[in-house]
Amino acid sequence: MTARNLFLLPGDGIGPEAMGEVRKIIAYMNEAMNAGFVTDEGLVGGCAYDAHGAAISEADMQKALAADAVLFGAVGGPKWDSVPYEVRPEAGLLRLRKDLQLFANLRPAICYPALSAASSLKPELVEGLDILIIRELTGGVYFGEPKEIIDLGNGQKRGIDTQVYDTYEIERIAGVAFEMARTRQNRVCSMEKRNVMKSGVLWNQVVTETHKAKYSDVQLEHMLADAGGMQLVRQPKQFDVIVTDNLFGDMLSDVAAMLTGSLGMLPSASLGAPDGKTGKRKALYEPVHGSAPDIAGKGIANPIAMIASFAMCLRYSFNLVKEADDLEKAIANVLDKGIRTGDIMADGARQVGTVEMGDAILAEFKTLSA
Ligand code: IPM
Ligand code: MG
Repeated sequence: MTARNLFLLPGDGIGPEAMGEVRKIIAYMNEAMNAGFVTDEGLVGGCAYDAHGAAISEADMQKALAADAVLFGAVGGPKWDSVPYEVRPEAGLLRLRKDLQLFANLRPAICYPALSAASSLKPELVEGLDILIIRELTGGVYFGEPKEIIDLGNGQKRGIDTQVYDTYEIERIAGVAFEMARTRQNRVCSMEKRNVMKSGVLWNQVVTETHKAKYSDVQLEHMLADAGGMQLVRQPKQFDVIVTDNLFGDMLSDVAAMLTGSLGMLPSASLGAPDGKTGKRKALYEPVHGSAPDIAGKGIANPIAMIASFAMCLRYSFNLVKEADDLEKAIANVLDKGIRTGDIMADGARQVGTVEMGDAILAEFKTLSA
């Protein structure tokens, strides 16, 4: 069997602890299922800065480009708050997204039944919630030029970021959204600010045209992004797939994440275009949560988002659908049994640390996949 090459970038803070739990699942799959995963590991974020003076080294970038999939933990922490902007920990993640051309960021917000009480909204508003936010990830104001602070010479400075989208960028992300919708409830809501932004006007037009040309079987709705944020907290279950730009997607996916009870629960996949010859997509999988420096190293972090990110990797990079389903089911079963890390702790549940949570999910996965 051909090797499945995984490049692991645990990063900073709780990243390495969470990744440790995924490593156990990889080892089990190799042993018991002959899955053929070959792993290599690198540094990203603050730890890479400490080692190489860069947020990711050229050698590790090459490995990320060559791998079948990258598993990413988290980056950043107060230790690196004052390093130069170009080499801040987040620059490593942004470079990976840009150089691997991972334009489609899939952020599912699923509310596990066992956790509906942990949401800041009333349980009935979030029970059974299953939204997929598709965030454009390599364009918009994150990368547009000019991006600078200029000195106006009169004691004033000017900070400039540029929001820019070309037709092809909107077309391809809209295509991903419509295709994903077809595998779900067949509904897409596109969000922009066409009432104030030219890029929003174009976004709206291109999504509408793409829909008309190729995906008219899918139900399409448009919403202004601010109203979309309001609707997400008012009546989140009205949405199936949401497609939006890089900055709005960053904010709206955090909002959606919190609806589910904890940021520690949510995985994400960042995908490139399928290769013309092999059909393979470059891909990076990462939890939506950050490095949580306040709890790093204490063994209490919730590894579920990282494990669920690996489930997305099984699904989207290796087409191991049954294994992905089993791993997701294992997470749900462990939650049903009342096993919780501190961030999702509830009355009557049993509080465990990172390793115990990982072990419980692995044990459940073994049972399901036996
Ligand atoms: C995210 C994060 C990143 C982003 C940061 C760490 C650069 O917030 O993945 O949502 O803004 O994209
Ligand atoms: Mg974010």
